[in-house]
Amino acid sequence: MRIGILNSGGDCPGLNAVIHGVVGAASNLGWEVIGFKDGFEGLLPPGDFTVLRPQDTIGILKLGGTILGTTNKGHFAAKVGKGDIAEVPAEIVAKAKRTLDQLGIGALVVVGGDGSLTTGLQLYREGWPIIGVPKTIDNDLQATAMTFGFDSAVSTVVDGLDRLHTTAESHKRVMVLEVMGRHAGWIALWGGIAGGAQVILLPEIPFSTEKVAEFIKERDAQGHHSTLVVVAEGAKLPDGEIVTIADNAGGEVRLGGVGEIVAKRLEQLTGKETRACTLGHLQRGGAPTALDRILGTRFGVMAVKLASEGRFGRMVSYQAYHVDSVPIEEAVNQLRLVSPDGEMVAAAKAVGICLGD
Ligand code: F6P
Repeated sequence: MRIGILNSGGDCPGLNAVIHGVVGAASNLGWEVIGFKDGFEGLLPPGDFTVLRPQDTIGILKLGGTILGTTNKGHFAAKVGKGDIAEVPAEIVAKAKRTLDQLGIGALVVVGGDGSLTTGLQLYREGWPIIGVPKTIDNDLQATAMTFGFDSAVSTVVDGLDRLHTTAESHKRVMVLEVMGRHAGWIALWGGIAGGAQVILLPEIPFSTEKVAEFIKERDAQGHHSTLVVVAEGAKLPDGEIVTIADNAGGEVRLGGVGEIVAKRLEQLTGKETRACTLGHLQRGGAPTALDRILGTRFGVMAVKLASEGRFGRMVSYQAYHVDSVPIEEAVNQLRLVSPDGEMVAAAKAVGICLGD
């Protein structure tokens, strides 16, 4: 048996742990693992891949990024059609399938987010032996309670806030930290609570800059002269606008800049010196935390188990401390968002955090 693996979409810490898990579990079964380079692109003729033996994965568990490379652009991202019915063109699928057949790949593990798993679902429906592994740093896939990479990103946010804390206090300033989170504010919420932010602004909760300014002025009056604000990149300005940097030809629209705008507005409204800082891809790079190494490894092992049972078209999923699986079709196109009425938002509010609503 030969099993293929590819990483697709944006990278995140823990991808190498998945590869490590797949290679370890597959070699126990006597299977050979083929790693395709740069996502689905590696399947296109003449094929760009490498054989992964256990000795090739020594030491990769602790490495950020992915030894296979990845992309959120290219032939498989350029789908035709719109929304849920957008598909990879038939001639591209046919070319890639030839590589799969020539190599005799009996199972293909696709490690990716919503878009890549939707591609995986299309290929499965066309007869490919696909196993999905969820990857989203934003942790916003409905069908899994947790994805690897998220914990590492949150740790980076906490480290950033700890650093901003001391400079904010020294200068009695407001510091605004913009973090990742396109549709879901999990990184902002977890990072903000753990890092001691006083204000957290999320895509899911419309905020008023006036309310945040009042909150800051009140803190000032009580003798707390510095304030830490965390804002998710996808948080909507009070007029409903999502701030974008540029159109990303062939990829998703790039978000960014909401932190600067919020900081400027808060400075005007409070009269307090305010600075903005964007954490950006620091959240995606670097070594995975212990949790992400373990989660990634377990996901990889489960992917091989599913392949060995011939349970194709399924995605590895983490539920209630247990790694299991769900049909890919139940996992895609369903975002897991922060509930404004949920327990975590209530906990944040209970400890005095302002969400701007
Ligand atoms: O979806 C994951 C994510 O990290 C988002 O939070 C962010 O907007 C985007 O990817 C960044 O993508 P890129 O690396 O292409 O700039």
